Formats: sequence, structure tokens, C-alpha cells
Amino acid sequence: MSEYADVEVGGFGGGIAGRVFEPVRVGALRLENRLVMAPMTRNRASADGVPGALMAEYYAQRASAGLIIAEATTPNLVGQTYPNIPGIYTKEQVAGWRQVTDAVHEAGGRLYLQLQHGGRIGHPETTGLHPVAPSPIALPGTIHTPAGSRDTVVPREMTTDEIRRTVEDFAAAARNAIEAGFDGVEVHGANGYLIHQFLSNHTNRRTDEYGGAVVNRIRFALEVVRAVAAEIGPERVGLRIAPGVTANAMQEDDVEAVYPALVGELADEGLAYLHVVFADPGSDLFHRIRALWPAALITNPRLPWPGRLPSDGGRPEIEALLAAGADLVALGRAFLANPDLPARLLAGAPLNAIREEHWYGGTEIGYTDYPVLTGDSAPARLEPALA
Ligand SMILES: Cc1cc2nc3c(=O)[nH]c(=O)nc-3n(C[C@H](O)[C@H](O)[C@H](O)COP(=O)(O)O)c2cc1C
Repeated sequence: MSEYADVEVGGFGGGIAGRVFEPVRVGALRLENRLVMAPMTRNRASADGVPGALMAEYYAQRASAGLIIAEATTPNLVGQTYPNIPGIYTKEQVAGWRQVTDAVHEAGGRLYLQLQHGGRIGHPETTGLHPVAPSPIALPGTIHTPAGSRDTVVPREMTTDEIRRTVEDFAAAARNAIEAGFDGVEVHGANGYLIHQFLSNHTNRRTDEYGGAVVNRIRFALEVVRAVAAEIGPERVGLRIAPGVTANAMQEDDVEAVYPALVGELADEGLAYLHVVFADPGSDLFHRIRALWPAALITNPRLPWPGRLPSDGGRPEIEALLAAGADLVALGRAFLANPDLPARLLAGAPLNAIREEHWYGGTEIGYTDYPVLTGDSAPARLEPALA
């Protein structure tokens, strides 16, 4: 069987141009290229949230990314979203992650860990605990649990004491991540999970200092980021946001007010980066955020979703974001299906087809078995580029 057995498109005619392969500083790190592997949940940790050798192999295969942001990982049990999500709050989880960070560093890579509390996205069948959220508003529909698909439950409104303890859990998780060998952490403020739930006036109906006015709705995000930065140093902390993204039934009425306020508050705190999901280089909000943010800006382009990657590998979107002022570009599905994505983009080589049925959970199939360009099939420019 050919190395190209599951290639879906022809070459896209020449390698990527511009600043993609210029080194860039992110916090304390000097990265060799501006391609970031976006965080992707793959549900391959143990039932107790412990990463194993298979996860180490998967991430090490992708070490040629300028930076890997490892998948959403929970800072405590009640924050766990789905089955087989990794955690970073027990000794066993820290030891499991150590295998991953060692493997990636040995392969020459750099990696941050994404810290995610699910808030209302969780289920007692998964954690044995009732989910908590800013307000008692359920995620519509069903959620995957170890017992199968279940109706979501109405989360319990967090007390201010629980909010304080959750902030502490994020800080402790960040400390554990550094102990596990990560180069830093990304606070997950995107895609409808707990921090995003505080930002939105639809999921946050609180009447205390964490709800209502914009200054109150951004308070929890600020407290988490600041507590994490105080614990491990701001130069090892990034924040991911998703202004207006409707994942997980999110609705936001005032992104133009919320996100500039949040970004402006954090601008002078020496953080490593800000990471914007589905960034639109043509929008006013993109340019306002860029103008407000003095440090590295990672952007995740809006590629066709769901479905196949574009046949040009997303090259125009990558180049448009860098031209509009982004410093780095994060790619999810392209890295999932192409362990050697930077080399392929550099050479203009074709991309592997994505096997979506293996995204969430399972074995090495659809996880560590995506082919790389090797030997005669590798473009001549590959060797010097990776040396
Ligand atoms: C299988 C899968 C799992 C994902 N898990 C996460 C996650 O854990 N955290 C997160 O912030 N985004 C997650 N995302 C979103 C990606 O980081 C990214 O924003 C999205 O895939 C769009 O980028 P792309 O078009 O390059 O794939 C996930 C996406 C996929 C496909």
C-alpha cells in the first residue's frame, strides 16, 4: 500500500510563503515556526484521567509544530467534561503527563497544556458530581457519558466560595503542569466551557459581582488568569478566547464590549500569548484585539467546518492572518491528520484525509497511525527544513 493511501487532494502547488517559518518569541520560548497545534480533545486518557504511552507517542509525532497546545485537561473532578478526559490534579495524572512532555521535548518540540473546566458541560454519570456553572441554565440536548448518551442536567449555581476555590484549582493545576514538564499553560476561555459561560449574558444571569455588567462578567476570567500567572509566572500563561463562537450552544450579545474589555485588562500583565478561535482578519474586532494586545497573538482561522479541509491546506487563510498582524496560526484538524504538517506546508505536499470517526476515544487507530512523508515520497526540501 502506498504511503499516500489516504491522501485526499493533490499537491497544492508550491510551499507556503511569508513569515510562517520565521522564528518567533512566545513568552520565554523561541519557537522555530509559527504553526501551532491547536488543542484537541481525543478522549484517550484512562478513566481516572491519566495520560499514557499512546498519548506520548501522538504528541511526539507532532513535535515539529512551533508549539503544541495539548488537549483540554481538567483542573478538578467536577470540571471534567466527558469520559477519558485527562486531568492535572492527581499525582498519577502528573506522572502520566511527564511521559508526554519528555517525549515531545526529546523530539525537539515545545508544549503548553490547556486547562479546561467544563462548567455546565459535564454529567454526574461521568464524575459522580453535579455540574456547577455561573447560573442554573442547562446545555440543551444530550451529552456523552461513560454510560452512553444522557440528557444534560441543570447545573447548580456556583457560590462565591466555590468560585474562589475553582480559581485556586486552576492555579494548582498550572503548578502541576509545570511539575509535569509543560512549558506553560493555556487557560481555556473559549467554546462554551466554564469561563466562556461567565462571559456570556445568556449563561451568566448572576446578580452579584460576577454577573450583569461587562466588568462583572469578565471578573472570573481575570481572576483565573491572574491566579495562574501568579503561580507559574505570566510568561508561561496564554488565554484562549472565542468571541461570538456558537459552539456548545453559546450565544453572546455584546462581544464588541466584552472582549476588548477583557483583553485590555490583561494587556500589560506580561502574558505569553492570546489565542483567538476562528479569527476573522477582516473584522473590526480582530483589529481592535490586535491593537490592544502587545504580546504574541495566536489565531485559529475559520476553515470550512465541519467537513474536509480545503484542498489548499488552508494556506490562504494562514497567510491572510499573518498579513493582518497575527504572530502565529493554530491549526487543529490539519495537525490531527498530518503529524508532519509543517514539512508538508513548507513543501506544498498533499495532506492526509481526516478520519473523523476516530476523533473522540478509541485506540491508536485514527490517532497515531496517520502516515508521514518518508524516503522517496518526501519532498527534497523536507530534510533541510527539518534539520
Ligand atoms: C477532535 C477535536 C477536538 C477539539 N478539542 C478542543 C479542545 O480540547 N479545546 C479547544 O479549545 N478546542 C478544541 N477543538 C477546536 C480546535 O482547537 C480548533 O479550534 C478547531 O478544530 C478549528 O480549527 P481547524 O479548522 O484548524 O480544525 C477541537 C477540535 C477537534 C476537531
